[in-house]
Amino acid sequence: MSLKLPRLQSGTVRPGRVSPMRSVPAAIERPDYADSGVRTRRKEPRVKSPDVIERMRRSGRLAAEVLRDVGAAVAPGVTTDELDILCHDLIVAAGAYPSPLNYSGFPKSLCTSVNEVICHGIPDSRKLVNGDIVNLDVTVYREGVHGDCNATFLVGQVDEAGRKLVQVTKECLDLGIAAVRPGRPISDIGRAIEDHAHRLHYGVVRTFVGHGIGEQFHTDIEVPHYYTPRARLIMEAGMTFTIEPMITEGDHREEFWDDGWTAVTVDRSRSAQFEHTLLVTSNGVEILTELP
Ligand code: MF3
Ligand code: CO
Ligand code: CO
Repeated sequence: MSLKLPRLQSGTVRPGRVSPMRSVPAAIERPDYADSGVRTRRKEPRVKSPDVIERMRRSGRLAAEVLRDVGAAVAPGVTTDELDILCHDLIVAAGAYPSPLNYSGFPKSLCTSVNEVICHGIPDSRKLVNGDIVNLDVTVYREGVHGDCNATFLVGQVDEAGRKLVQVTKECLDLGIAAVRPGRPISDIGRAIEDHAHRLHYGVVRTFVGHGIGEQFHTDIEVPHYYTPRARLIMEAGMTFTIEPMITEGDHREEFWDDGWTAVTVDRSRSAQFEHTLLVTSNGVEILTELP
């Protein structure tokens, strides 16, 4: 007897050539890891001052604009390296530093994650192919604070299952954001995301989580996209963190390419992601990386 299982499109992406690291003009303010590649963790208040929040609104807006503009360049035949160059140049032209560049040694200014790549794909010489899905993750550092957002784009004509995956992943982010409320535990967010994904038989990646953000790229707040009672931190007005669910067509577990960065699904089924940087407000949430 043979079971009829849906056939998942899988295993399409191979590593390409990675071009040399790009530089940022000396006049641009650099985060502390930019030269060493070493991220040192500092103590940083979870509840941000009005001044930090105002600067994060500006960094968040810039990240969102760059994501929109690099996303507009997505097309069959374009290499992820070309998208990285565009991203890098737009960020530098805005007087900002591309946060991924040399963060723990990451070699590029943008993360590009195609099909079965879950996250942290390194831009390279691979051309996007009609039918791919590609996540672009843009983070900028300006006025001493980071803004972080990502979205998954369709390359040409994508099959029905791929379009559905991307649509449901966006819904997961929106439901996670709707669960942000002062006085409630962070675990409400993962519950909302996981309920939606599992109801529709998708996987939820567990190893990578949303994170506190501000003067540092990743602070100590963790935002799991699945339900766990351990996420008991109570949300408070003034806290800033990301929500960035990674949703899979098949198995939610990951393994890594030899580059040590590129995370792919163990079954090579596709994964999609969307991300915003958020501020908890007195009555709910403000999206810092949303364009008006
Ligand atoms: N932007 C990613 C995030 O959402 C982190 C990228 S880290 C890098 O947290 F080193 F890969 F750039
Ligand atoms: Co993030
Ligand atoms: Co990001």
